[in-house]
Order: sequence, then C-alpha cells, then structure tokens
Amino acid sequence: MDPIVGLDIGTTKTCAVIGCLNDNNQVEIIGVGVCPSNGMKNGVIINIDNTAASIEKAIEDAEMMAGCEVTSALVGISGSHIKGENSKGVVAIANRNRIISHLEVKRVIEAAQAVVIPVDREILHVLSREFTVDDQSGIKDPIGMTGVRLEAEVHIVTGAITNMQNIIKSVEKAGYHFQDMVFNPIASAEAVVSQDEKELGVALVDIGGGTTDIVIYLEGGACYSSVLSLGGIHVTNDISIGLRTPFESAEMIKNKYGCAVLDLVDASEMMEVPSVGGRPPRRLFRQELTQIIEPRVAEMMEMIDHELIKSGKKGMLAAGIVVTGGGSMLDGCVEAAERVMNLPVRIGLPKDLAGLKDRVATPQFSNGVGLLKYGIRIKTFKGGKSAMKQRGPGVVNRIRKWINDYL
Ligand SMILES: Nc1ncnc2c1ncn2[C@@H]1O[C@H](COP(=O)(O)OP(=O)(O)OP(=O)(O)O)[C@@H](O)[C@H]1O
Ligand SMILES: [Mg+2]
Repeated sequence: MDPIVGLDIGTTKTCAVIGCLNDNNQVEIIGVGVCPSNGMKNGVIINIDNTAASIEKAIEDAEMMAGCEVTSALVGISGSHIKGENSKGVVAIANRNRIISHLEVKRVIEAAQAVVIPVDREILHVLSREFTVDDQSGIKDPIGMTGVRLEAEVHIVTGAITNMQNIIKSVEKAGYHFQDMVFNPIASAEAVVSQDEKELGVALVDIGGGTTDIVIYLEGGACYSSVLSLGGIHVTNDISIGLRTPFESAEMIKNKYGCAVLDLVDASEMMEVPSVGGRPPRRLFRQELTQIIEPRVAEMMEMIDHELIKSGKKGMLAAGIVVTGGGSMLDGCVEAAERVMNLPVRIGLPKDLAGLKDRVATPQFSNGVGLLKYGIRIKTFKGGKSAMKQRGPGVVNRIRKWINDYL
C-alpha cells in the first residue's frame, strides 16, 4: 500500500503523519512532521501563504523521517462555521426480489441529504446512524435484507465553502494534491475512541489551541457535532495578563506548572516566572497560577457541558467523555471536566499503532493520526485504489462522501 498522509492544520501547529497498513493489518507510522502554524485563527485559515509554508515544512519533515515522497494529503477541517444536523430519508425497494443492495442504500442516503443547504455551504459528511427496513428499526447494515421500504437516519455535517476552498488552496500552494477533507473530531475519534464506546454512547471532545471540537456517538453512529471557539490559547492569554509575562513565557509556565484544579496543588509549591522589560524573574506560589487557570478552564468545561445538554443526549453517554487535543494535557483537566460535567472522563491517546508510535503518543497527535487512520480505512475498502482522488462537482463530492462515511 502506498503511504497515506494525515494533515492536521491546527491553530497552533500543523502536523503531518505518514503511515500505511502493515502486513499484520496494523496502522504503521513511518513519518511525523510538526511545524508551528502562522496563518490560522480559531481553526480557520486567515493567511494562505503562511499556512502553505507550515504545510510544506510539516510534510517535508515527515517525508524526511519516512524516507519517501508523498504527493497528496488528507486534511482535517474545523472552525465555528461547521454545523451538524440530523435528517431522515425514505425510499421504496423497487427491484423485483425486494432485496436491499448498495444501490438502495445509496438512494436512501441521497434522499436523507436532500435538506436545504445554503448556497455558501457544502456537505462534508453524511454519517449514517441507523436504518429501518419496513417496521424494523435499529439496523446497522441493511444490505441483503428484504423489504419494501428503507429508511435512513443520518447526521449531516456542513461547512462554509470559502473555508474549505482556503484549505484546498493552501495544500495545493504547498505543492501537494488535496485528497479529501474530514471534520476534525470525526478523525480524532477514529484514533482514540473504541467502537464499544461509540455503541454505549460517548462524547469526543478535542480541546485544541483555538477550537474545541465535539462529536457525540450513540449506538455506533454520530448524532451531534459542534465547534466552540475556545482552547488552550485562551488559558495562556489569561496567564500572560495575570502574571504580566510574555505569551511565550506564559505558554511555557502553563505547560510546566499549570493545573486546572486548586485542590490538586500543594500550598507550599513555588515556581519561577520570567518578567517583561528586563526585570528579574519572580518566584510565585504555584497556587497563584492555578487561581488564574481554574476559573477559565471551569468556564470552558461549562460551555462544553452546555453543548452536551443542548444535544439532548447527555443522559445517554454511558461511556462518558473522552477528551483529547493538546488542551487536554493540562494537569487536572480530567478532574475539572468531571466536576462540571458529572460524567466519567478519560484522556484519549492514539492507540493500536505500529512503527514510530512513540512519536505520536500524546493527545496533540490524535487528529493527525485519526486522519491517517480514516484515509487508510477508505483506501482499504476500495481494494487499494484510492477512493478520494476524483474531485466532484462540489468542493467535496457529495456522492463519494456517502461511500466513505457509510463504512
Ligand atoms: N503540557 C501541556 N499542558 C497544558 N497545555 C498544553 C500542553 N501541551 C500543549 N498544550 C496546549 O495545547 C494547545 C494546542 O493543542 P493542539 O495541538 O491540539 O491544538 P491545534 O490543533 O494546533 O489547534 P486547534 O485544534 O484548536 O485548531 C495549546 O494551547 C497548548 O498550550
Ligand atoms: Mg487540533
């Protein structure tokens, strides 16, 4: 199998993960490249040239590590322009023997996506949740079943065309072909959430630098998605202002000493803070730092909780919440989330990998690894032929997407 590239263009860093499926059917990581992002704000591109430069550097570094060259990349998309909604479609099984084939499934998913989409938006995903054949509901795979009426419930994710075009332009400007686009938390879930958790009911929360992406799975299918414009950068900004220290120092202090919950920090613990304007560094209690971080993180958790309540599915999340993304690396993040949301919370790390898996063993890589895994799954299904090369009439070919997401 030719190597595949998962390209995560995040607000703070751009990361390229090259990998393939090995002989043991495991996803093998063969190259990783990370470069700071300069052209992004809250998950969307605000400068194409700078974004292209970050992409080029990240992929080149990954190529160097992998010892091979790649031509195209599968990219993630986020930003508050992304919206999710549920929809239903119904078709009659018109063929003579009344057996449901791929054709009927394709027709019913097309019928389900016949919702009114504004001209400035495009469908990113049509994720099937469940099918009903005649009166039998809760069917995951109706192919081969007999019936007269097929109904599909789907979750449709749409995004603003301009933002999608800017991603494609940036990838192409960096000298690579755009392969496909995946909503970030759907990719992250691919890397860190198990199928069992998806069946039980789980919320995947990817806390990045400038966005927090949420997707809820129930009975194996996605049923709610949302993007909040908040992330680790907001915590760092508060520290920078609160301790009167430059953003870069605040970032360093947060990563080294930061904690989201006051009770977890020993009252006698001290730390050193660099000052601005050539003044000497100061020594402070670590609890003073926690007092700045705690309310901001609690506020973020409340906003995430509000989304879970808004979805109407919070009470059904038997597998609780999986937090991932760089923001989840803050000490006390799990405790802060559990306090506010009152559900079991765990950190999601990329798993079930071979090769250079230690290079991607932190939550910041969930998205990049998830994109790679998504790409490999689609390619494997297509029998080694890329399902994603052709670009359709829209920015992202709608018919092609149902094939990708139905699997
Ligand atoms: N050890 C750490 N402790 C606390 N926060 C951390 C740590 N390491 C990284 N972070 C934070 O994680 C954030 C970056 O996370 P990530 O790389 O997932 O974001 P991104 O993908 O660039 O952005 P986004 O997904 O929002 O577009 C930064 O705000 C950074 O401060
Ligand atoms: Mg991210």
